[in-house]
Amino acid sequence: MSDTLRTRPADAADGPLLYRLDHDGWSTLGEVAERSAPPTADSTLFDERHRPQDYLVAELDGQVVGYVRLVPPTPLPSNAHIRQISGLAVDRSARRRGVGAVLVAAAVARARRVGARRVTLRVLGYNTPARKLYEAAGFTVEGVSPEEFYLDGRYVDDVVMGLTL
Ligand SMILES: CC(C)(COP(=O)(O)OP(=O)(O)OC[C@H]1O[C@@H](n2cnc3c(N)ncnc32)[C@H](O)[C@@H]1OP(=O)(O)O)[C@@H](O)C(=O)NCCC(=O)NCCS
Repeated sequence: MSDTLRTRPADAADGPLLYRLDHDGWSTLGEVAERSAPPTADSTLFDERHRPQDYLVAELDGQVVGYVRLVPPTPLPSNAHIRQISGLAVDRSARRRGVGAVLVAAAVARARRVGARRVTLRVLGYNTPARKLYEAAGFTVEGVSPEEFYLDGRYVDDVVMGLTL
């Protein structure tokens, strides 16, 4: 394959592109919040709670095509040994080319580097692409909140997955 795929830490300049990627890729398969407003000249994915340093981006042939967000689940010292994947998206045009897998692997590597013991995440029960991806990366199902969300006219389970490092 001639495509060059790499990950790097995000910076503030990625905000507008990531906003658009997120908006364009939105669906109730992967997102429980409502769709963001259409992008404008000022739109950026980043704010006080969504900081560039919590994101890794993937570049395919030099183009940003995806991101993963890795954060401590809470600010509590008692919870500081955990990192949570809390955001993962790949541009529709770049899916099924290994980008998501590389992003998850990079997030796990970052968690290891900062000394985390475990990586956790939540995924909708019917999000088969994401669940398969996480399983392939070594995550296992650790819990299910039945019918946690009501999306598109049906109740959907929320699935907790985890990986011990
Ligand atoms: C989930 C998502 C990130 C996957 O990204 P991707 O770059 O297409 O994934 P990859 O190409 O790295 O796929 C890795 C593995 O995941 C699984 N997978 C990915 N997409 C799949 C699909 N549509 N159906 C079944 N399995 C799929 C496969 O096991 C795949 O390995 P394979 O291609 O060797 O069979 C992407 O579909 C996406 O952005 N979805 C919308 C947002 C979302 O759901 N985020 C997760 C929230 S928890």
